[in-house]
Amino acid sequence: MIPSTTARLILETARIEEVVCEFLTLRRSGANLTALCPFHHEKTPSFSVSPVRNTFKCFGCGKGGNAAKFLMEHEGYNFPEALRWLARKYNIEIQETASTPEQLAAQQAEESLFIVNDFAQKFFQSHLPGTGLDYLKSRGFTEATIQKFGLGFAPDGWDGLTKAATQAGFKLEILQRLGLTTAAGKDFFRNRVIFPINNLGGKVIAFAGRTINNETIQQSNNPKYLNSPESPIYHKSQTLYGVHLAKRAIRQQNVCILVEGYTDLIALHQAGIENVVASAGTALTTEQLLLIRRFTPNLHILYDGDPAGIGAALRGLDLALELDLNVKVTPLPHPDDPDSFLRRVGIADFKECLATNAKDFIAFKAGILLNDTANDPVKKANAVHGIVESIARVSDPIKRSFFIKACALLVGLSEDVLTAETNKAMQALEKKKQPLVIVERPSALSLPKATSSPLETHLTRLLLEHGADIYDQKENITVAEHILGSIEDVLEHFEGPLCHRICRESIELVLAKKPVTPQHFIAHEDLAVSGFVADLMHESAIEPDPHWAQNGFLRGSDPAKPDYLDDIAKTVSRFKLRVVSQLCEQNLKHIKDTPPGDEQAMLRLLKVHEKLNLMRKELAESLGLVKF
Ligand code: CTP
Ligand code: MN
Repeated sequence: MIPSTTARLILETARIEEVVCEFLTLRRSGANLTALCPFHHEKTPSFSVSPVRNTFKCFGCGKGGNAAKFLMEHEGYNFPEALRWLARKYNIEIQETASTPEQLAAQQAEESLFIVNDFAQKFFQSHLPGTGLDYLKSRGFTEATIQKFGLGFAPDGWDGLTKAATQAGFKLEILQRLGLTTAAGKDFFRNRVIFPINNLGGKVIAFAGRTINNETIQQSNNPKYLNSPESPIYHKSQTLYGVHLAKRAIRQQNVCILVEGYTDLIALHQAGIENVVASAGTALTTEQLLLIRRFTPNLHILYDGDPAGIGAALRGLDLALELDLNVKVTPLPHPDDPDSFLRRVGIADFKECLATNAKDFIAFKAGILLNDTANDPVKKANAVHGIVESIARVSDPIKRSFFIKACALLVGLSEDVLTAETNKAMQALEKKKQPLVIVERPSALSLPKATSSPLETHLTRLLLEHGADIYDQKENITVAEHILGSIEDVLEHFEGPLCHRICRESIELVLAKKPVTPQHFIAHEDLAVSGFVADLMHESAIEPDPHWAQNGFLRGSDPAKPDYLDDIAKTVSRFKLRVVSQLCEQNLKHIKDTPPGDEQAMLRLLKVHEKLNLMRKELAESLGLVKF
């Protein structure tokens, strides 16, 4: 756990423009900086960075927030990952909280795993010249490509790496934990070309080693690939090979190509196709698909045309449909894989093939299932059931009905029959369904259900925008003190939890004699709060809320004061008036519901009514709204 004080320090230290410019080219435009928005397709820049507010905002797609939010959106990090990235950039030390000695030890252990992997990767790289390099070159990979993927070679000795690492001071135990050294103290990878496997942030978490003796592949004691075993930093089911190099291209092109093999991915990169990840031979998992979905909803599966490849694609398909990904599949001519196909036909034809042969999943699955059913009705029925089961996984009803239409055409059945079958399959799935226990992005990102009313939003905006200004010179009170002092007794009547929370925390600031500023909340450790305030401030910088202009709340009536002071006085009154009116109504209802005999209760309620009514009258009069 990152302590919230550290989170705040990180968010206050991080400069949005310094973070964004590591990824985008920024142009100055007045007080702000602009760029083409990385989150949606556009030709003129609507992505704006405000150094003053320390936030970004895209006026095209609406995304906005602080530096951490930018990293989450752009790099697919979760919140702690984004904070760690920023902490590294700004040299802020994170002392994780709630660390029992065990947790602390675990964390240090994890760090040392990365360090040892790093050492191993450099060791393999340094042993590449010679056999390893010759092999990779014979497969057509250039020096630049080899460098880009950090490829290396594990020499043919028994303990080259193990010796080098222990001599460098690393513990044997750690090497074994990573699977680099066997229980017997020997090197795990020997005489193999090495592919480092990286996490989203680019750190090496595991390795794969390919044999260079193609003749012996068939022998079970020499598998084509060896992979690091699972370790505290490597979870195969959550890993996609190449994702750290692909994420930007995937987002830009808004589609992710999925291949199976390491060499497929590398070959595609070398040919300039970078929006690609590899499942590395495992059956696709939900975690892997969620990782893809961080960057795009569109998945293009490019699998070998052999039965194994097709089977893998089919399994991946159903999972992807469940996660609402739009799936296309391009089967390659057997026995090609993307790497060999690309080498055979060249990049132009390869791209052409992707564009013309991509099938949506119905067509793909139907094609395979219906393929050799000939006119056997039983086989044909089974095939249709198979297709329907896939359609049942699509949660969007509109998409589902389009798929049913397409399927009806393909198999020559009526849509009604297929709809009924789909419904049955959906019910069956529902029963089987296990809750997804996957930690996605922090829930703070989803807005709380109750939204703030325009009135309280405006009040909150005034509070933040002018909180530190002087409201009353004689009394020497700030705007924040005035607003919060006036609404303290009705604080519990906010509709939106965010405005409520900001006001509550502002009271704490005032009590601690600290200024109430937007910056404080933009650096908030809760992203829901920082995002809300970032939006609020950008809105206020761009356009006054038309609702308020209409009602005359933006024009001051006292020429001696700046407009906003008048606005503040009126907004506070109006907010209180709304609360008092609501309480009045509630009270009237209570009066109605009081049984006729209960005179004491009635008397009390009538007194409350009188008091509330008086308050209402005063407030309304002060606003010049109503004459009672
Ligand atoms: N794989 C594996 N272990 C094996 C065989 C395969 O982990 N014994 C995984 C690897 O990630 C491999 C992928 O499955 O990249 C696809 O396997 P395959 O098509 O056999 O290998 P290629 O990637 O095509 O490798 P190459 O081109 O070098 O033959
Ligand atoms: Mn291959």
